[in-house]
Amino acid sequence: MHIDDLDTPCLLLDLDKVQANIATMMAMIAGTGVSLRPHFKTPKCPQVARLQLDAGAIGITVAKLGEAEVLADAGLGPILMANQVVGAQKVDRLMSLLARGVDVTSAVETEFNIRQLADGARRSGQKPAAVIEVDAGLRRCGSATPGETVRLARMLIENGIDYRGIMGYEGHMYGQPDPVAREQLIRDSLAIVNTHVEALAEAGLAPGIVSTSGTASVPIAARTLGVTELQAGTYVFHDSHNEEFIPNTFQQAITLLTTVISVKERYAVADTGAKSLTNEFGPPMSVDGRIKVARLSEEHATLTGEGVASLKPGDRIEVIPSHGDTTLNMHDVYYVRRGGELLDTWPILAARKFR
Ligand SMILES: Cc1ncc(COP(=O)(O)O)c(C=O)c1O
Repeated sequence: MHIDDLDTPCLLLDLDKVQANIATMMAMIAGTGVSLRPHFKTPKCPQVARLQLDAGAIGITVAKLGEAEVLADAGLGPILMANQVVGAQKVDRLMSLLARGVDVTSAVETEFNIRQLADGARRSGQKPAAVIEVDAGLRRCGSATPGETVRLARMLIENGIDYRGIMGYEGHMYGQPDPVAREQLIRDSLAIVNTHVEALAEAGLAPGIVSTSGTASVPIAARTLGVTELQAGTYVFHDSHNEEFIPNTFQQAITLLTTVISVKERYAVADTGAKSLTNEFGPPMSVDGRIKVARLSEEHATLTGEGVASLKPGDRIEVIPSHGDTTLNMHDVYYVRRGGELLDTWPILAARKFR
């Protein structure tokens, strides 16, 4: 089958580019002693996670229990849940994963989380494992001080929870457009994480896992003393937003295929919209950069740019998502292609698994 035979809008996954991105990431960390546990919030698809594991990833990171459950069903892991598990329903889902023999470590940031995990362990007879999330400057979740982190580590152990280390994500780097200032911000964030590592080591609680980083900070974090593993996710598909922060390194591996349904004097309209493509990170562009998705209504995309002059109704265009993760979250399947040839269809099993 050929991609011309596909109905639109649909998501195409270029297998050669995905494999090249996976290889590039592994080459980037080779010889550093730092491991990769790629974030599943990007591909949300077991077949992609399998490629990452086969290439040498030591496990998979997730943000949501629903993602962990998809991986567990596919027999993939070990899993690091880089997020707190809050509420009895979720704690019990975590315990069910443990009861199935799934190796899953979740994050804690407060005494409250530890008490909830300990209660869940009592209810289920399971022994949960945890890393302490520290605030690396993102001002999202995380323990604010090294002293608090040491206190939480002791509390994990006292409560019979397997204390495995710490994590801290320097995601605020994506708010800094200047590359020099961004590099400094990344180094400062990792230095904050290191103050927690040192305090834990002084207290005799040296962390086994020190997990940090997104795609754009990998080159620095992989060479930062103390970091043991990385949580990068976006690199595997590499949307146009990520290209701004780590240029000329990864390839844009997913595209949205859309059909032109109307052509006017200065613009054209395609059959994608806010229900199949997102634009919160800026306007998506066609692969050749000549057509801009200037506006999205629910089921219509207004196309502008020099490339629209030659468009006819029925033409098909490939658009690079500006934010791949939120775009693919609305789809159910990747059409796996090599050039124009359709090789396979891979279900996006963790799409919309936001619980
Ligand atoms: C906790 C955490 N770790 C890692 C990542 C991966 O970062 P990136 O998408 O830059 O690869 C994210 C991204 O949202 C995250 O929230």
